[in-house]
Amino acid sequence: MTEKEQDTPDGGFSLFEQEERVLQSADSMIGMLEDVAGGVRELAGAYRQSYREQRRLLRISDRLQLDLHQANQTLASQATELKLLNETLHIEVDLREALAEQLRQLNENLEQRVADEVAKSREQEHLLIQQSRHAVLGEMLGNITHQWRQPLFALSLIVQSIEHDYEGQVLDKNTLGEHVSNASRVIRQMYETIDDFLNFFKPNKQPENFSLKEGTEDAFHLILKSMNFKVRVHGEDCDDALVRGFHNEFSQVLINVLTNAKDAIVERKIPEGWVDIYYGQDDQTAWVDVRDNAGGIPAEMLGCIFDPYFTTKAQGTGIGLYMSRVIMKNMGGGIEARNAGDGAEFRVILPKADLV
Ligand SMILES: Nc1ncnc2c1ncn2[C@@H]1O[C@H](COP(=O)(O)OP(=O)(O)OP(=O)(O)O)[C@@H](O)[C@H]1O
Ligand SMILES: [Mg+2]
Repeated sequence: MTEKEQDTPDGGFSLFEQEERVLQSADSMIGMLEDVAGGVRELAGAYRQSYREQRRLLRISDRLQLDLHQANQTLASQATELKLLNETLHIEVDLREALAEQLRQLNENLEQRVADEVAKSREQEHLLIQQSRHAVLGEMLGNITHQWRQPLFALSLIVQSIEHDYEGQVLDKNTLGEHVSNASRVIRQMYETIDDFLNFFKPNKQPENFSLKEGTEDAFHLILKSMNFKVRVHGEDCDDALVRGFHNEFSQVLINVLTNAKDAIVERKIPEGWVDIYYGQDDQTAWVDVRDNAGGIPAEMLGCIFDPYFTTKAQGTGIGLYMSRVIMKNMGGGIEARNAGDGAEFRVILPKADLV
């Protein structure tokens, strides 16, 4: 600004002042522009910020969409898996039901099979009992033949005597009466043998009480006459026992044991064969021991002699001892074997009567 312009007399509008104002307004305009620029900058900054934010949000949204897509896919595959699992489960359930049905049928069949087998084994046991009775029957027929030989001979002598007395004219009423009574006695004896025999073959229906000694002697009585060895009964002074069981079946068991002893004595040609009988008892049982001197049973066979069909004899059936065990068990008793002294010893055990 020049001095001239500054000294305006009226103090009014001067160039200087104008310039000054222009400059001032330019300044304020610049200030304003700067403000605007600042605002624009701010705006640009904000815009950039929001742009960045938007990008970030877009990225997040992209990621979210991706995640969603993946989640969708996982869900879809899980649904498929579930469906498959469901189907498998259905199949498994069906399978299990079929298996349960099969099992039920198998069970039913099994029950039937068990019942059939039980019936079969009963039938077989029954058959074996019959067979063993037949074996004893054979033995008994031998005995009867033996026991009848003597009376038959006596009868033929009586008949011959009658004839002889008649021819000698000494047959009067008295002599004839004597011959007849002799013949009747012999015939009665033969009847008794038959009766014993028949009684023996009548199976006992009900168990009964009987004396152990008497039961044993009955068995001897049936068989001993045909045996060519000594039977030495020990413990005659020992107390008798009242036992409970099937009398005849018990005799059958003793006959089996005695016959086996006889077989061993004969087969091994024992010069002086004998059988010892011992009685014994405890609180609950009573027994009879039958011990022979025929050399005993080989140790390796002791475990099998009671098995069905086990025999060492050419003509043996091997059911004698098996049946004896079945019979004794049926009575609540038993039969055991061991080697003792010079031979085998069989113990036949029965429950005492008062305990049953
Ligand atoms: N007292 C004994 N001494 C030696 N061995 C014996 C005696 N008792 C039995 N045994 C043996 O036990 C086997 C089986 O006897 P078991 O009575 O069961 O049949 P088995 O006598 O052979 O035939 P079965 O009785 O039909 O005639 C005999 O073959 C024999 O070998
Ligand atoms: Mg036998």
